[in-house]
Amino acid sequence: MLKVEHAERMLSLDNVFSTEELREWLIKTETAAGQKMPWLTELKIDGAAISLHYEHGELIWAATRGDGRVGEDVTENALQIAGIPKTLAGSGHPAVVEVRGEVFIGVEAFEALNVAQARFRADVEAEGLARNMDPAKARKSAQRRFAAFANPRNAASGGLRQQVSKKTGIEREAGDLRIASLSMLVHGIGAWPEPEVASQSEVYDLLASWGLPTSQQVRVCESADEVINRLNEIGEQRATYPHEIAGVVIKVDPFANQRELGITSRAPRWAIAYKFPPQEVQTKLLDIVVSVGRTGRATPYAVMEPVLVAGSVVRQATLHNQDVVRVKGVLIGDTVVLRKAGDVIPEVLGPVAELRPDDAREFVMPEGCPECGATLRAMKAGDIDLRCPNAKDCPAQVRGRLEHIGSRGGLDIDALGEVTAAALTQPLRPAEPPLRTEAALFDLTLEQIIDIEVDVRDGETGEPRTDPETGEAIVRTPFQRVEITYPPGFENASAMERRGAGVKKDYRRVVPSAQAETLLLELEKAKTKDLWRQLVSLNIRHVGPVAARALADHFGSLAAIREASLDELSAVEGVGAIIAQSLLAWFEVDWHLDIVNRWQAAGVRFATPDHPGPGALASIEGVLTGLTVVATGSLDGFTRDGAKEAIIAAGGKAASSVSKKTDFVAAGPGAGSKLAKAEDLGIRVLDAAEFAILVTQGPAGLDQT
Ligand code: IVH
Repeated sequence: MLKVEHAERMLSLDNVFSTEELREWLIKTETAAGQKMPWLTELKIDGAAISLHYEHGELIWAATRGDGRVGEDVTENALQIAGIPKTLAGSGHPAVVEVRGEVFIGVEAFEALNVAQARFRADVEAEGLARNMDPAKARKSAQRRFAAFANPRNAASGGLRQQVSKKTGIEREAGDLRIASLSMLVHGIGAWPEPEVASQSEVYDLLASWGLPTSQQVRVCESADEVINRLNEIGEQRATYPHEIAGVVIKVDPFANQRELGITSRAPRWAIAYKFPPQEVQTKLLDIVVSVGRTGRATPYAVMEPVLVAGSVVRQATLHNQDVVRVKGVLIGDTVVLRKAGDVIPEVLGPVAELRPDDAREFVMPEGCPECGATLRAMKAGDIDLRCPNAKDCPAQVRGRLEHIGSRGGLDIDALGEVTAAALTQPLRPAEPPLRTEAALFDLTLEQIIDIEVDVRDGETGEPRTDPETGEAIVRTPFQRVEITYPPGFENASAMERRGAGVKKDYRRVVPSAQAETLLLELEKAKTKDLWRQLVSLNIRHVGPVAARALADHFGSLAAIREASLDELSAVEGVGAIIAQSLLAWFEVDWHLDIVNRWQAAGVRFATPDHPGPGALASIEGVLTGLTVVATGSLDGFTRDGAKEAIIAAGGKAASSVSKKTDFVAAGPGAGSKLAKAEDLGIRVLDAAEFAILVTQGPAGLDQT
């Protein structure tokens, strides 16, 4: 997709979550401005930000927010959205103005869109069946192509960015419909240094006179009390608005005060978003089930009747441990109150006592691991969490470790995700899974995986799917595909020639699927990936990407780490005693060593080529000796690793998080929280050019520029 650079940055908003916090912010802002000011309140629309770049009243381009500086060009789609004019009404428009607004899908349009998706699903499934497609495949493919949208926000932001003109047939029809369901409301301007009006509220009137869609819900309030009253009013009327709202935005109305207050690295100081307390809903607690994760921890979780909460359907929520279940006082069969904490993670609050049925029953933590049967126990005295002690070959733990190995922070193997990890450890067939532990991961062969069969589970309920006619479980062979071909010599023959020779059409052979080939190829590549990734993949407690990088940088090889003493390990910056102890304990276990030995025998490198040996890198004397530098975002002229290497080569310490000990932060586009933190702590922030000076000449070079 084409990128465009915003003429003025698109900012984000800071949030408050209670009226007390909001009052504090209002007072703080008035104090900073040195006067009382009128406040503008408006709805926070739950959609996707858009910037409309007009020059002399003509739309030049429309773009998404992107990283705030550079967004994606969505002009073609924007021009299809009702209310976005190509030419502004009236006259005397500025040479350049960027009109900022929110693209969203209204409540009714969203419902209609999902009805349409269901129709597209049914149509393509029927079409597949008419072409003799396997019924399970026809269904799955229809579901994949036309899945129901989980919430209006995602449907809107995806809809705005889709490339409809590249689509054909029914996909095109669905894409067009999705765009037709989009609406837009403006909420600001950018890149217009001296607007002809003096306040945000007046700018809305001006934009409306140019034919742009403005909200009916904008109010100017004269005091904090009035602002809070307006919030309450909006809260009460929430369900009557034509679109979902994410809260209320409160802005300083006069531009003069806005300019004076200014902006932080990411948000204006003159505006804030107030988020309503999370919506609470009720649903039925059908069961409490225990799952075992990568570290063996047994976690009870609630299985509920699906319910829509804060924009998505929720079926499950963690209950953490048996004590939490007890404290919450929920029984299986209860109607429970549910909300999304921080609007993201579903949380069961407790039962609705008056709706408790007579047959509600208490949850009892099972004694055995639900996956391998080993007796669950606390690993340390005083631990509330129970764990499965069978770390070596409990399928749930091995599966979890494999997923961790494949994850972005591990060996970053796309083909080794949740589904593949399950297929390799718990297939329906063969009875003996290809992997009992991860020791054999790098020895996997096509022969071992090609015949693997797994069950197909319903994406909604997680239940195994059965054939509606035979009642048999539907199975899938993820690592093979059946190719229809012709016997040797007839591959390229014409239909007539084949018929003449009596060659049958259904000559089938089993070949590896793309997934099988990718998995093996990616495993091969992983053998020579960075040492820190290979360390993370060993699943050593406390050794995540940060500690693994520190270990890899200091020691340069797994062999050197194994030889190091507790003191030597603890002394490494970013490692410390807990991680050091965990490492030593890990190397004490036979089956852990078996993993290392087998991986090594299969070619896993476990070393950084040309590393000068333990500690050598840390002792380089150079222009940055004794200084700690954090590089974040994309720095022109440096790759991510290149920036770190440049710091180390100059004798500095390349840290990955910003703290009081940080001396400099080099930040490029895409820098996020680290940049904000540096600004908060008053640490000097450098751009790419200054960073290049720092690593060659040291801080002295900077003072000369
Ligand atoms: S003002 C300079 N007003 O919320 C401040 N934003 O969380 C920029 N949003 O990226 C935003 N409704 O896309 C503003 N009435 C409103 C809004 C609104 C929705 C979005 C906007 C922004 C995001 C920040």
